[in-house]
Amino acid sequence: MNFQRPRGTRDLTPDRSSLWRHLRSTFERVGDRYAYVQVDTPVFERTGLFSRSVGEDTDVVSKEMYSFLDRKGRELSLRPEGTAPVVRMVLENGLLGPGGILRLSYLGPMFRYDRPQAGRYRQFSQFGVEAFGSTAPALDAEVIGIFVDTLRELGLKKPVVELGSVGDDCCRPDYLEKVLRPALQDLGDQLCATCRDRAASNPMRVFDCKIASCQEALQSAPRPLHSLCGDCASHQEELESLLEKMGIDYHRNHSLVRGLDYYTRTVFEVHDSSLGAQSALGGGGRYDRLVEQLGGAPTPAVGFSSGMDRLELLLQELNRENPPAPRSGAYLVLLCPRGEATAERYARMLRDLFPVEIDWTARGMKAQLKTANAREARFALILGEDELEKKVLTVKDLDSGEQVTLAEEDLMDFLRTVVDSRNEEQKQD
Ligand code: HAM
Repeated sequence: MNFQRPRGTRDLTPDRSSLWRHLRSTFERVGDRYAYVQVDTPVFERTGLFSRSVGEDTDVVSKEMYSFLDRKGRELSLRPEGTAPVVRMVLENGLLGPGGILRLSYLGPMFRYDRPQAGRYRQFSQFGVEAFGSTAPALDAEVIGIFVDTLRELGLKKPVVELGSVGDDCCRPDYLEKVLRPALQDLGDQLCATCRDRAASNPMRVFDCKIASCQEALQSAPRPLHSLCGDCASHQEELESLLEKMGIDYHRNHSLVRGLDYYTRTVFEVHDSSLGAQSALGGGGRYDRLVEQLGGAPTPAVGFSSGMDRLELLLQELNRENPPAPRSGAYLVLLCPRGEATAERYARMLRDLFPVEIDWTARGMKAQLKTANAREARFALILGEDELEKKVLTVKDLDSGEQVTLAEEDLMDFLRTVVDSRNEEQKQD
């Protein structure tokens, strides 16, 4: 019987592995630098956590969640995003102390039953950060700064931040009741049935509709950015001026409302000019009411998350223009079964210097060297009957083709010198 992976999922095959690790470690390094502590939450949670926070009327909750009953009839869902679980974790573990800012980061798989296409999957991975405890626009700027730093370190030249605001409890109710709802009523039949329902229950969610005729009709609908109260407007202006000072390109985007209900004030998405407009590399914003909504003390917060699968696709495109990575590590070509223990001993010693892979297949020299080359190893370490007898090892530099035979006691020093000089050259490059 043949099985295939479920639609909309991906395998992390060996050819993707190093880029994926590079993505992870770059984000982790930048997060460490800003003193964000990495946390993790389960991949499934009580369904109510998401309907209460992300919002019952959002596409994510109403159409895209993988929800199921467990054997005891509990309603559970695979997490479609990371913010609500992190807030749940913060509250459940009493992580909000009496003062200071709680800075957390995370990385892991999320699940949305969306229509799969390039850059959109049913299981995808996000990295992200959440910061709790300040209303200062400087915290919004810090969070955006982490995202942009990560993208720049990954080699993206021109990440652009699309910036908007969805207002707060002071200005949003008026915007929804007095501005948006009447405008949606005027549009009447130009909107689909779902939009008409949403116009009554949660008007801002009409902007999530993917139907072309609704998108067209909604072009003229007033957006929250036009109806901000004084405090929200000055928050926005301060944030913009901070981003300018930090050298971060942003673009004020009136139509940005984001597809999740918990936001207040700042919302943003980050795009790269090389991907289509649809493909946000990530997004986030402020959610000053969410902690309270989930049962905690009022605590302002802001965060972002980024779709790692999309980033990977973009980096694959970019890497096509880059030279291939330099060879590294060693491949131990073992030509006599008697030498297994010795090979193992050499490899253990040399793994202090670089990765060592031993060929246990008992094939001939030519075949093993071919594999060493395919692995892009820097050295082939050849152990045949002769070497075993004389207690030596033949080292072939697969970059230059040079070959030397060395006694065991000289091996480490020789390879260390080659590796060090190579590192030095790379530093100078
Ligand atoms: P989001 O905009 O729903 O926000 O998702 C963030 C990013 O995850 C998207 O910009 C995209 O790169 C990626 N993404 C979303 N869905 C998919 C998919 N089906 N396949 C591949 N990538 C996808 C959030 O999730 C919020 N929790 C962000 C946040 C953090 N807000 C505050 N803190």
